[in-house]
Amino acid sequence: MRSATGLGRLYVTTLCALAIIAVVGGVFDNLAVVGAALVLSIIAVGFATMTVVHRLEARSAQEAEHGRKVASAAEGVERVEAATAGLAASLERVREDVARLDAIRDHVDESSTRNTFSLREHIDRSLERSTEEAKAHVDTAVAGVESGLKGGLAELHEALVQQGEMVRWLQRNLASLTRHTRRIPGDVQAVLQLVTQHPPAAPLPDVGGWAMEPPTLVRLVDTVLRHRPRLVVECGSGTSTLWIARALHEGGGGRLVAFEHEVEYLEKTKALLLEHGLLAYVDLRHAPLVDTATPRGDFSWYDIAADDVEEIDLLLVDGPPGATGPHARYPALPVLGDKLAPGATVIVDDVSRRDEQEMVEYWLEERPRLRRAGQLGFNAEALVLD
Ligand SMILES: C[S@@+](CC[C@H](N)C(=O)[O-])C[C@H]1O[C@@H](n2cnc3c(N)ncnc32)[C@H](O)[C@@H]1O
Repeated sequence: MRSATGLGRLYVTTLCALAIIAVVGGVFDNLAVVGAALVLSIIAVGFATMTVVHRLEARSAQEAEHGRKVASAAEGVERVEAATAGLAASLERVREDVARLDAIRDHVDESSTRNTFSLREHIDRSLERSTEEAKAHVDTAVAGVESGLKGGLAELHEALVQQGEMVRWLQRNLASLTRHTRRIPGDVQAVLQLVTQHPPAAPLPDVGGWAMEPPTLVRLVDTVLRHRPRLVVECGSGTSTLWIARALHEGGGGRLVAFEHEVEYLEKTKALLLEHGLLAYVDLRHAPLVDTATPRGDFSWYDIAADDVEEIDLLLVDGPPGATGPHARYPALPVLGDKLAPGATVIVDDVSRRDEQEMVEYWLEERPRLRRAGQLGFNAEALVLD
């Protein structure tokens, strides 16, 4: 379009130049001017032609370039179209994939929701069950530990209490053993004295324990031999009964009334006296324990028929056994005190015991004429009625 315009301008320019030449030649009728004008027109046309050619060439090169570009663009368009088609296909595939993925996601979502829910439920239930089981285990363990501890502590406590009792028992027995061990030489000496000074006619009964101790027996025999009592009364028969009878025999007379609540021991004592040929000195009387009224209340004491018992010179209080009641021997003085002869001696055995000590205190309070006359052996005391 531009080359057509350039060419048109060339024609117009050339025609204008010819016209000018013609006008100028005709006006001036001058051939030189017309010739010069003509030459100039030719040069102008030449320049114009060269310009047009040049422009046409340039235009042609441009057109070729444009054609190449168009072809290249067409190729590009084709490639773009192909690419676009490929892209569209890819997009379609992508869309399909996305749809599939959506479906999968929906499925996954749904199942994961379901699974998550059921999993949570499962976990919750498991946790709940595990917690309960764990709690039950812990409770059982705690209960076991508690009961074990309680049981252990209770057993330990019981064992300690038992051990404490055992220790106290051992301490008591050790003290008693020590006491008795220290007394052995005195006991041996007393027995030797008894058997050498008063040779027995038959086997001797027990000493110590339930019976009177040898040192007390020595003092008892000595008291009888020195005081020569006409009437001796004994509460509780046994070994002492034999030795009093022996002393009465050696002293030339006198009578012993012995009260015994146990028939079995009464018979044993009787047999003993018979064996030793001393029964004639003893009036052994069965006297069961009965309620006995005293200034300090009722006691279980010998049921004695004491009408024939008057003017007691020597009263030996060695029964009933302490196990029959507190201050079991206390009634002896309330019952027999008024039957004591002036200057009578009262011998109380087992004064190492609190009950007998208190009993003696009661008697001394109640009988102003009664006084202590000294210890007999380790475990007896003599009182005298002034
Ligand atoms: C503390 S004991 C002392 C008896 C007596 N005064 C003596 O020295 O042997 C008191 C009681 O022991 C009982 N007894 C008597 N002879 C016994 C014997 N051979 N064995 C066991 N107990 C006896 C009698 O019941 C008696 O009253």
